[in-house]
Amino acid sequence: MDTTHPRDDQAATALPGLTIVQHPLVKHKITMLRDRGTSTKGFKELVDEIAMLMAYEATADLPLSPCVVETPLERAHGWQVAGKKLTLVPILRAGLGMVEGILRLVPSARVGHIGLYRDHDTLEPVDYYFKVPADATERDFFLLDPMLATGGSAVSAIASLKRVGATRIRLLCLVAAPEGVRRVHAAHPDVPIFCAALDRELNENGYILPGLGDAGDRLFGTR
Ligand code: PRP
Ligand code: URA
Repeated sequence: MDTTHPRDDQAATALPGLTIVQHPLVKHKITMLRDRGTSTKGFKELVDEIAMLMAYEATADLPLSPCVVETPLERAHGWQVAGKKLTLVPILRAGLGMVEGILRLVPSARVGHIGLYRDHDTLEPVDYYFKVPADATERDFFLLDPMLATGGSAVSAIASLKRVGATRIRLLCLVAAPEGVRRVHAAHPDVPIFCAALDRELNENGYILPGLGDAGDRLFGTR
């Protein structure tokens, strides 16, 4: 184990396009998520909570338009989120764990799905499903996947969204490897990446170190 305590906020300055969410609750919950002793139930709850906290940050610059609201006492000036509704797009399987937490913050969001898995030998993504709302050109997309490892899955998913006309896409992941961040940014420099932790590296099987293991298996108890 590396006994130094890395300052991931500093590491992030070297990675264009990446925002590491610095909230203490996120750091605390990510640490619990990494713990091999965390149960499937606990893992699912933590992914849900961290996704919600990340969405709070990833929506911080949403445009607002002024509006007027009638309180029980008088008319007041207020604000509403402007523009089209958000669309959440989890990458199956593990991205599914991030959907409900974000929907609690943005209940009107639509949900698309992209099915991809990594080939065990080549580590390249294999496509098996794609469904998003028809009017993609006018929507804001949050692409969700807990793990950004080699970046192959995210690069492919973003390309699929762009093929149907998406122009405003953000990638939200929980744990990222520097390799994956660089690959996504090189292929899609217009896509901001948000993560809760930037880890050290990938091992020879493409797993993130220190990471949290196989996110899909831990989330759905399939190991
Ligand atoms: C995991 C993870 C990402 C992908 C990341 O999914 O949820 O989608 O690997 O790896 P990459 O950045 O190297 O592409 P996996 O392929 O294990 O599929 P699963 O969710 O169906 O288990
Ligand atoms: N996918 C995972 O679930 N975990 C990793 O560490 C890498 C890819």
